[in-house]
Formats: sequence, C-alpha cells, structure tokens
Amino acid sequence: MDWGLKNRLSKTISPKTGKTVMLAVDHGYFQGPTTGLKNPKEDLPKLLPYADSLFITRGILRNCIDANTNVPIFLRVSGGTSILGELSNEDITTSMKEALRLNSVGVGMSVFVGAKNEDRTISNLGRLVNEAEDVGMPVLAITAVGKDMVRDARYLGLASRICAEMGAHIVKTYYCEKDFDKVVEGCPVPIVIAGGKKIPEKDALQMASNAIRDGAVGVDMGRNIFQSDKPVGMIKAINAIVHKNVSVKEAFDIYKNG
Ligand code: R5P
Repeated sequence: MDWGLKNRLSKTISPKTGKTVMLAVDHGYFQGPTTGLKNPKEDLPKLLPYADSLFITRGILRNCIDANTNVPIFLRVSGGTSILGELSNEDITTSMKEALRLNSVGVGMSVFVGAKNEDRTISNLGRLVNEAEDVGMPVLAITAVGKDMVRDARYLGLASRICAEMGAHIVKTYYCEKDFDKVVEGCPVPIVIAGGKKIPEKDALQMASNAIRDGAVGVDMGRNIFQSDKPVGMIKAINAIVHKNVSVKEAFDIYKNG
C-alpha cells in the first residue's frame, strides 16, 4: 500500500487497536432532513470527540462543521437520487480534487448489487478506485441493500467480495446474525458495519459487539447513535465496545450515564 494511502487510512482505523468508530451522517444525501440530524450544526459537535472519522457529504461538511475540527473526514462522493426515486441510479457526484481540497482521509460510495443499476455502480467503484489510487486516497464501498432483498450472509458476502475485487480499501456492509464471520472471511479488506434502522440501544450494542467478535474492524454507524435518546452515551458505548472490547453490559452502563 502506498505511504499516503496507508497514512490516510491510519487516521480512521486506529493503528493502536486496529479498529474504528466511523460516525455516519450522510443520510440527507438521499433522504433529506433525517431525524436526529435535522440541525447538523447543533447535533454533531458533541459526538465528534468519540468518532475516529466522520462520514459526510461536502455540503454538510462545508456548512455545518467547523474547519478547525480534529475529526478526520471521510467524504461521501456518490449520489444523485432521492427516496422518491430509484435509489440504485447513483453516480459519482463529488470529484477527487474536491476530496483533496477538503483534506479528506477517504472517499465513499454506494454499490447496488442485485439492483436495477448494479452494473453502473460497480463500474463506478472501479473508476473511483483508479482515481483514488493516483492520489493515495482510500475508498470505502458501501453495499446498499434494496428493501426487498434479504440481508443474509450469502448476499452480503457476494456484495462485499465484489467491492473488494473492484479495489475498495474498506467495505461497509450490514451485520447478519448467521455466518457474518463468513462474510468477513470472504472479503480480503477490512469490513465495518452500518447500523441500519434505529433499534433498542442494548440490541445495537449487542450487534456491534457481535460484529467485532466475528471479525469486523468497526462500525460506520449513524441512526443508532444520533437517534438515541442519549447520543453521546451511545457513541461512547460503541467506542468502548470497538476499541476496548468491553462487554455489552458495561457498554450499556456507559450509554445510560450519557
Ligand atoms: C446510508 O446510505 C448511509 O451510507 C449510511 O452512512 C449508512 O447506512 C450507515 O448509517 P446507519 O448506521 O444509520 O445505517
């Protein structure tokens, strides 16, 4: 791995623990003002000290995040669709030059395996990696899953492996109870899990803990943090699971104490 790429990656995946807590706040790029993220300027600063990086679009970054922040920026560079249309109809919307200008430590895009535009999104990932490798920029590929698709190890394993084959440096996918370790095993690059829809805090902590146990290097989690009644407690608890391997019970206490 090139020095620059390795160095950028080390800003997200801690060289000390080999793990990462990415805070995903990009949801507005296709769903507009999202519960818990309606006012990013107010909602986000308190969470940043506990995140290893922030997964965000350029618009919210520029308008809502203080440029003096220490949190490394992982930039979402794909989009072009909304919840009202065909979600797989995505393209690359933000240039590599822009990612460099914003001092990003990585770029991310969604890949829609099995959906209407799977071919275009997979090819776009290959092209993004070509551009990213030129400047030493890590690429996070997100396995977007359609509403009618089953989130099982077979599908998630297929989608994650395809992302790695295209050259992604990290893959974000969903956790599945059965055989998640096989998803990890079949993917030669680090895997982080998305949290998905808001679930009870204890369940979300258990999911993060199981994912780490099964080989994930961390989370790129959003709604289960910023939609919690105690977002700071929740991100602290997730951080403790990921980096300190605390039990779910201990993590739940951290959450409760806010
Ligand atoms: C979804 O399209 C976004 O890429 C989110 O970053 C991702 O789903 C993680 O957020 P959450 O934990 O809310 O699922």
